[in-house]
Amino acid sequence: MYKLDQNKTPIFDSLMNYVYNDTVPFHVPGHKKGIGIPNEFKNFIGQNAFKIDVTVFKSVDSLHHPTSSIKEAEELVADAYNSDHSFFCINGTTVAIQAMIMSSVSNGDKILIPRNIHKSITAGIILSGAIPIYMNPDIDEFLSISHGISFNTVKESLENNPDVKAVLLINPTYYGVSTDIKKIAELVHSYNIPLLVDEAHGPHLIFNDKLPICAMDAGADICAQSTHKITSSLTQGSFLHVKSKYIESSRVRQNLNLLQTTSPSYIILASLDCTRKQLVFSGRELLNHSIELANYARKEINKIDSFYCFGEELKNDEGFFTFDPTKITINCRKLGMSGYELEKILASKYKIQLEMADAYNALAVGSFGDTKENIDKLINALKDIRTNTEKTKTNTFSITVPKIPKQIYSPREAFQANKTSVKLKESVGKISGEFLLAYPPGIPVLCPGEIITDEIIEYIEHIKSLGLFVQGTEDPKIENIKILN
Ligand SMILES: Cc1ncc(COP(=O)(O)O)c(C=O)c1O
Repeated sequence: MYKLDQNKTPIFDSLMNYVYNDTVPFHVPGHKKGIGIPNEFKNFIGQNAFKIDVTVFKSVDSLHHPTSSIKEAEELVADAYNSDHSFFCINGTTVAIQAMIMSSVSNGDKILIPRNIHKSITAGIILSGAIPIYMNPDIDEFLSISHGISFNTVKESLENNPDVKAVLLINPTYYGVSTDIKKIAELVHSYNIPLLVDEAHGPHLIFNDKLPICAMDAGADICAQSTHKITSSLTQGSFLHVKSKYIESSRVRQNLNLLQTTSPSYIILASLDCTRKQLVFSGRELLNHSIELANYARKEINKIDSFYCFGEELKNDEGFFTFDPTKITINCRKLGMSGYELEKILASKYKIQLEMADAYNALAVGSFGDTKENIDKLINALKDIRTNTEKTKTNTFSITVPKIPKQIYSPREAFQANKTSVKLKESVGKISGEFLLAYPPGIPVLCPGEIITDEIIEYIEHIKSLGLFVQGTEDPKIENIKILN
């Protein structure tokens, strides 16, 4: 099924050659194969990692202009992920997303994006100078989280904005929810424009058919994946895949070269190289194990009164089309506890650190590193928390997010403009220089460059009065907001 010999690990091998041929290092980094590393650090890490912490020279190839081992390793990734070209990113998916956007749209081009974007997308929009047209994701009222953008939302947005130059989706969501991306890809292509996918939470999808379809197989033109998140590469290691008649791979390379460091970490590159081989040969089996454990956790957590861990039962034809079962979202709304509190108790009392929390949920990420023993520790801790917590009234806050306000300036213009801080109440009618995000469900009610309305300020004051969370302004108390001069 693969065209290339996936047993190869060209980057790792080139580094091994360098280590074992005893080359004398007169190059950076200055620690010279670890000799100069501070002892307390070396004693913990060991010697070997430093021996492959090298800089760009011929025998280990160049990330920016690959001609040998890195080129071959990128071809192996493309073969494994069914793309035409794949790129190694050592500044995380953040840089992959920035390059993805900059390679697809230019200054003044319109791009359809979800309203609840990760900040790397905002950065890509600012860097490219594109004009975002926002789409609202589906919201689950009880869970108070956003799911995917439905097919119908994309369809309607395209009908209303036939001049957009690209569509970007986040798929799957942090909570593992996927939309009908295949149908959306066909729709987007019927407008002769590319589909861009932030697949930060989906580097594993292609390796197991119990998981949602991956962006490349669904027909997306370009997708960015956090290989370091669910799979086993080191932090900051990500892939960017391209298979498109709309996006030129050479432009993607140029943009990555513009954005990434000229001193890439070869440790991260080698970990990406070896992770690709691991995924190809053992991904299916490793994921079967992760899925089995996560499903076991879900079943057991759902037996505990007042906790709810959602799964396939929420599937629909809209923004919750398919689900990645490795995501374990623990909803504690019925206990009258916030997700933040649950996360804090698990960390402080039970020494269990979750991935993140929001108003009513705490998220445990399942992956290759899980063991039955650790999953049982989580289940038992939740049982203990339930026993020791007196149930309080369920918060009945319902989400009615204000209308998306009018965009006066592009995010780039707003970013570059001079700004003044004013009291929130005095900002109505002015143009915002900052974000305002209300939790739940964490969708911005205001983005830089948009006009501030009465409705928005009333909503924010209401959320604050309920003791819920508002974020985004430089002022941590959210009493002042920066407006454009
Ligand atoms: C949806 C989404 N996109 C992009 C990113 C950025 O990924 P990275 O941390 O690898 O830069 C994240 C990080 O959490 C994310 O959740």
